[in-house]
Amino acid sequence: MSTDNLEPIAREARNLIANARGLAELEAARVALLGKQGSISALLKTLGAMSPEERQASAPAIQALRQEVADALGQRRMAMEAAALDERLAAETLDLSLPAPERPQGSVHPVSQVMEELAEIFADLGFSVATGPEIEDDWYNFSALNMPESHPARAMHDTFYFPDPAPAIDGQAPGRMLLRTHTSPVQVRTMLGTLDRQPGGAPVRIIAPGRVYRSDSDATHTPMFHQVEGLVIDRDIHLGHLKWTLQTFLAAFFERDDLVLRLRPSYFPFTEPSVEVDVGFALQGGPAGKVRVLGGSGDAPGHGWMELLGSGMVNARVLEMSGFDPNAWQGFAFGVGVDRLAMLKYGMDDLRAFFDGDGRWLRHYGFSAFDQPTLSGGVGARR
Ligand code: PHE
Repeated sequence: MSTDNLEPIAREARNLIANARGLAELEAARVALLGKQGSISALLKTLGAMSPEERQASAPAIQALRQEVADALGQRRMAMEAAALDERLAAETLDLSLPAPERPQGSVHPVSQVMEELAEIFADLGFSVATGPEIEDDWYNFSALNMPESHPARAMHDTFYFPDPAPAIDGQAPGRMLLRTHTSPVQVRTMLGTLDRQPGGAPVRIIAPGRVYRSDSDATHTPMFHQVEGLVIDRDIHLGHLKWTLQTFLAAFFERDDLVLRLRPSYFPFTEPSVEVDVGFALQGGPAGKVRVLGGSGDAPGHGWMELLGSGMVNARVLEMSGFDPNAWQGFAFGVGVDRLAMLKYGMDDLRAFFDGDGRWLRHYGFSAFDQPTLSGGVGARR
């Protein structure tokens, strides 16, 4: 077979390959050309029937044609696959302007939010955050805070005690274990902790937020609740520092410059003198109004005083038991309910709902994690 005779078959093959629209048609072309019954395959078969001389003359051209067709098929296939990929990529391009599908989203619990706000406000005042264990021993929770075994104030704490006394450590019997009834044991732990750094004492400026436990339950009491403790120990600290700190902190927290505090003498075994702090509020929304708006003097008509927190100058005996010389060091401490602060600032009235884990409540009263750290104006903002 001469090369001339191949020309129509070659042309036909090139057309078939060039005109294939899509991979399916290209595959059909491959079968028609190189498949068992294909036209090029048929040409190759004719070689078998030729004389050696004829075969020598014809084989190179036929082999070359077969190679050309195979190459062309391969190239066309690659081009088609690349085009298909481009098309798919173009179709799948992300449209970033489309609204994202809604996903269930958690929220920041008001208690966590308020703790963040407190940490931020007190950070502005130079306080750091301290922590202590929720399972405490008797000594830290009571004795070291000037409440010895027989002290009547212990009875007011409705303490959850653990049934068995803890085993003796190094022959020394530790106190009874309990769930801490307040954050005040962190005062003791913090003071003792500073002695490692500086025997005899070192200045302290901390807040200690955390969970506390008392056997009590109604609309304003839950067996677990939250407090934040404040403690400042330094030289020449007096009641004026306590008053300024509380006024500054509460005005920043409630975001009200007109906040008026009333300090009343009180009693706590671990502070002397002790001061109970009330905040002035007004009832708004008519005579049956229930909305309390903080601010102004509680003595004004239509106003009242609301008890907010306990505080005082750290009792000399507490300083002593924590390794500080009371003739060289003084300090103040305060303790306030975090849940109560949250209720007052964000208008919630049933404390129990805080801990029900009801998703609807959390969606309503929770905060976006992306608004962190806080909504509070901060201390610096109001100077
Ligand atoms: N620990 C006290 C309580 O829980 C509050 C308090 C703390 C009072 C610090 C004075 C000083 O009631």
